[in-house]
Amino acid sequence: AKFTMVDRETCIACGACGEVAPDIFNYDEEGISFSVLDDNQGITPILGELEDDLMDAHDGCPTESIKVSEKAFACAKVNVS
Ligand code: F3S
Repeated sequence: AKFTMVDRETCIACGACGEVAPDIFNYDEEGISFSVLDDNQGITPILGELEDDLMDAHDGCPTESIKVSEKAFACAKVNVS
């Protein structure tokens, strides 16, 4: 499975991700993107049918802010801290 979250520090609110993957990404009031699947925690597996959209968003983000991992991001964070 794949997991995703947006690096909201580097997102420039370009709006491409929500165009190609509207079931995964939405924007806050400032246009900064987040994953709607789990409030940008990166812990919800992406359904197979959405993986193409996810990779399109990942490939299309001009600031590489769409993070994709084979592991849940929360687990990665726990390992780091
Ligand atoms: Fe931000 Fe990249 Fe989406 S800049 S709005 S995360 S395409």
